Amino acid sequence: MAKEIKTIGVLTSGGDAPGMNAAIRAVVRKALANGLKVKGIKKGYMGLLNEEIIDMDRRSVADIIQRGGTILGTARCMEFKTAEGQQKGAEICRKHGIDGMVVIGGDGSYKGAMALSRNGINTIGLPGTIDLDIACTDYTIGFDTAINTAMQAIDKVRDTSSSHERCSIIEVMGRNAGYIALWCGIANGADDILLPEKYDYNEQRIIDNIIDNRKRGKTHHIIINAEGIGHSTSMARRIEAATGMETRATILGYMQRGGSPTCKDRVYASIMGAYAADILTAGKTNRVVGYRNGQFVDYDIEEALAMKKYINEYQYEISKII
Ligand code: ADP
Ligand code: F6P
Repeated sequence: MAKEIKTIGVLTSGGDAPGMNAAIRAVVRKALANGLKVKGIKKGYMGLLNEEIIDMDRRSVADIIQRGGTILGTARCMEFKTAEGQQKGAEICRKHGIDGMVVIGGDGSYKGAMALSRNGINTIGLPGTIDLDIACTDYTIGFDTAINTAMQAIDKVRDTSSSHERCSIIEVMGRNAGYIALWCGIANGADDILLPEKYDYNEQRIIDNIIDNRKRGKTHHIIINAEGIGHSTSMARRIEAATGMETRATILGYMQRGGSPTCKDRVYASIMGAYAADILTAGKTNRVVGYRNGQFVDYDIEEALAMKKYINEYQYEISKII
């Protein structure tokens, strides 16, 4: 029989992502509407182990849906990777009357969520990461804002790059995944898009592309490089030496993770947050919420972590043609 849940906690973990606040707000308000009490855990699993736990009501999440970052704060916590840390976390939950938890974060955070479930705390994960690198879902909280922020920044770099007839290498985030690079590559009309999943480290091909383009009258060149490949500055030096075209590297960095969430991130994160509160209320545990084929769905965490995600071949092919 499903365990009856009276009080839930909510935490954000790993890298922050725009839309996390919308998700927190929805978890809190839907859980309250379902008759539950809600506590906020500050700074992810580290805050849980340090008992940084606060009561939350409707007003505690007022005026946050439009704000980037996470009002609860986030952290990485090595201690929570140990069995002792995980048991301690579950005991602290019980001490504070928390029998259910919503964890908003990436794959790493899900492993912590799975550990909490195993230790008797009903736990639901929400996909919070700008990287889009979670296999069980076509959408992650923050990706839409991050690509829009990066796209606008790349447009600006393009203005100056074309004025000076330069080659620009623009490095975007994504850890080992190339989704931000691919989306921006298409949206910004990049000449080359380097993805960790596809790049063969054949720099000569890029150099040949620049030289061929120049012969056809093109006076500047935009390369989107994914963080997982990196080395943009040294790459710029080598490309300049080989092509004779002035080449500059721009690393967009953390600006991609901040800022007010887009409408899509606010709405999808709100739906996912409410969904998590509902399935916790129904007594579910060890689940993650995803968005697949136009529907919000949930999966067993272990099953979700075993799934594989690949770059869409068609998107990649057309990115090179158009
Ligand atoms: P993300 O959640 O964005 O993938 P991390 O991989 O840094 O980010 O994970 C965030 C946190 O989740 C870690 O600092 C740690 O506290 C917890 N975590 C990561 N891996 C595990 C694991 N194998 N077991 C338990 N907790 C984990
Ligand atoms: O996971 C989001 C992300 O911004 C990645 O794109 C990047 O590799 C990583 O986090 C950076 O993490 P940190 O905040 O630890 O530098």
